[in-house]
Amino acid sequence: MAGPRRSFAITSGHNMRTQVGIVGAGPAGLVLAHLLHLAGIESIVIEDKSRHYIEHRLRAGLLEQGSSELLIETGAGERMMRERMVHDGLYIKFKGELHRLDFRDLVGKSVMIYAQQELVKDLVAVRLGYGAPLHFEVANVALADLEGPRPKIRFAEKGEPREIECDYIAGCDGFHGISRSSVPADKITFFDRDYPFAWLGILAEAPPTKDELVYTHHERGFALLTMRSPTLSRLYLQCEKTEDIAHWSDERIWDELRLRTAGGEGWKLSEGPIVQKGITDMRSFAVEPMQYGRLFLAGDAAHIVPPTGAKGMNLAIADVRVLARALEAFYKAGRTDLLASYSRTCLRRVWKVQRFSWWMTSLLHRFDTENAFDRRRQLAEIDYLTSSRAGATTWAENYVGLPMEWD
Ligand code: FAD
Ligand code: DHB
Repeated sequence: MAGPRRSFAITSGHNMRTQVGIVGAGPAGLVLAHLLHLAGIESIVIEDKSRHYIEHRLRAGLLEQGSSELLIETGAGERMMRERMVHDGLYIKFKGELHRLDFRDLVGKSVMIYAQQELVKDLVAVRLGYGAPLHFEVANVALADLEGPRPKIRFAEKGEPREIECDYIAGCDGFHGISRSSVPADKITFFDRDYPFAWLGILAEAPPTKDELVYTHHERGFALLTMRSPTLSRLYLQCEKTEDIAHWSDERIWDELRLRTAGGEGWKLSEGPIVQKGITDMRSFAVEPMQYGRLFLAGDAAHIVPPTGAKGMNLAIADVRVLARALEAFYKAGRTDLLASYSRTCLRRVWKVQRFSWWMTSLLHRFDTENAFDRRRQLAEIDYLTSSRAGATTWAENYVGLPMEWD
């Protein structure tokens, strides 16, 4: 590998050069660009959607303590500090009764609610605020020369062909991006698991039913009550994989949510106008390694977890922390060891989070292939986890986010 060199985000005709080319302006790409900027490393971010689109795409909402601390420590968390909702625990409802898992008591940490699109807005504003390059609405993105010393990102902008020559490329373009598929098939291994159900998610103008999230195990299937603000609820229902959202009227959704979450003294589901609804697929997926030549895959480009447990965005942020540190060691000290161990370091966390997300999904959903014995077993496990401090602690420790491990 070539040693560190000064590089400039220069433009000559349609060509540019930078130190790190970043494909994708989701949480992974934007957090990476921010961390590199703070370390004095130049990058160019390209995104195939518009700024408006990425700033309004409804997705994740729960941040582990480590993710939020990183944003605050690096100066990107100002608005988040004002608007976030800090949760010291969560509720689990089963057999119609509400139980609470107290993270603060069990592991001394908390999580917080802050919508992914708000985080994206903050990070876009920070980047544009220091005048760093961020190109929206690019097309026909392709990667070239990944094995050589000067990998390239080619794309079209306003119909004109463009090329960025980089030292390194970060593939942060999500599950459907082009980075992962730019790796030759014999250099990458895929691991996956499908689930026989999906989630129907709604956003409703209704105050949250409870002060913290409610995960519900029910004979009719899983339900989750979460939130985006003191006046906005986000609710999810386990549904058929092939479900057509057109068959779910607002009335049917509320009926089903009421049925699944009913029970317990003083319980009343908070309801209001539904302002958005959609179906989310459930899958577990990972690739090994997360690197090929000078391309590093990060976030959903490298792995997907089912949403139960809210790990996807947090894992994306953890990956780019590892990558930013490795790039900093290279540019500041000429070290290539951390780049070489990037994939190994990330995958240790990835597989622990894969395990946890799969486990929480298996614990709380109804599987039609399973029988009454399995449902009794699920209930016994939830009972154990909510009544044993040892059981509750292992759940809480994973939920709030495992500590970062550096190689
Ligand atoms: P993305 O957010 O997908 O960003 C990739 C970016 O690359 C996108 O902006 C995309 O437009 C762009 N792109 C794609 N292709 C190209 C291309 N060819 N060229 C240039 N740009 C390209 N995670 C949590 O941690 N907590 C939660 O509470 C949570 N809840 C969720 C709820 C739902 C309903 C869903 C769907 C997901 C949830 N997740 C959650 C997962 C989380 O949203 C993702 O894991 C997260 O967005 C991953 O970030 P990323 O930057 O890796 O990928
Ligand atoms: C949210 C989503 C999740 O999958 C989860 O486990 C917790 C919260 C959310 O969208 O707020």
